[in-house]
Amino acid sequence: MKRILGIETSCDETAAAIVTEQGDILANIVLSQRDHDVFGGVVPEIAARAHLHHIDTLVQQALDEAKLTFKDLDGVAVTAGPGLIGGVMVGVMTAKAIATVQNIPLVAVNHLEGHALTVRLGEDVPFPYLLLLVSGGHCQLLIVQDVGKYKRLGTTLDDAAGEAFDKTAKLLGLGYPGGPAVEKTALECADPAQALKKFPLPTPMVGKPGCDFSFSGLKTAVKRIADTLPNAIERKDAADISYSFQHSVATILNNRTERAIKEYLALNPAHPALVVAGGVAANKTLRQGLEALSRKYKIRFVAPPLNLCTDNAAMIAWAGMERLLRGMTDPSDFPVYPRWPLESLGTKNV
Ligand code: KG4
Ligand code: ZN
Repeated sequence: MKRILGIETSCDETAAAIVTEQGDILANIVLSQRDHDVFGGVVPEIAARAHLHHIDTLVQQALDEAKLTFKDLDGVAVTAGPGLIGGVMVGVMTAKAIATVQNIPLVAVNHLEGHALTVRLGEDVPFPYLLLLVSGGHCQLLIVQDVGKYKRLGTTLDDAAGEAFDKTAKLLGLGYPGGPAVEKTALECADPAQALKKFPLPTPMVGKPGCDFSFSGLKTAVKRIADTLPNAIERKDAADISYSFQHSVATILNNRTERAIKEYLALNPAHPALVVAGGVAANKTLRQGLEALSRKYKIRFVAPPLNLCTDNAAMIAWAGMERLLRGMTDPSDFPVYPRWPLESLGTKNV
């Protein structure tokens, strides 16, 4: 049974994990850098230095937790992009060193493919499935046709959904990362109908043709409301705005996904499924909306466990394993990619 080490350093999580070809997670260690809180966003230079400081220890911790040594590994997978390039280079150099010294195959993983395939780590989800990928940097609807084969149905024209959550949290003084903070604050909303009336927010692109998204108008609307409130926004108002914001995001995601479901079903997939992935997929309200939509179209709804939605290395290890098992390994001189669209994978990544 093959085992692979995965390394993830493309944003502000330093992570190392080991998974087997059967999808067992033997170790999954994530160190979230919290030094970025004060800046209200990730500072690339600080992130890269922190990855460099922690990565060796984390890899050793993963091996210890799995009760393995480097000799037991059949490969090493690493995020080669897209992401903050200083951080990506730390992970890639570490992986290249391990692969060279141990003489094992190396797999350059696209971070988005990591999110896209995570769902197959614990469950049997056959291709093709419809994927809503919602993270801090991306918001896309894709048909996952196979490993390395993606058809994009829609993408954001401006901000990503997670970015909108993070900016809203910042405007409301809720801290970083914003998604979990907005979700938690929205739960305190005592009167949802009243909150929507008091703080109505737009739902850009809803009802428009195609499957593209837009979140910048929503963000601006939150800013306009925040500007009318005192600097220290009252907790009740923060709860109502968070609720209204989350309601708008849910409306946008459901509308765009419904259009994509129709396109996807026109292909007559044998086992139709809607998969949601990426950090924003950890949001329970958004999940519930998408689950209801899947019921409406009688398709399976699958979402990874919460800890595998946000950035981690188990997803990178798994995408690496799917590639390793298909002989899709990479030479040791592969580059790093600040931008790396999923649809370009089929055309050869190096
Ligand atoms: O996938 P991810 O960990 O990193 C990227 O690849 O971008 O996604 C991070 C994003 C952040 O914007 C964060 O605010 C958002 O996911 N997020 C959430 C929740 N947990 C994380 N957004 C909404 N609700 C959540 N519970
Ligand atoms: Zn991510």
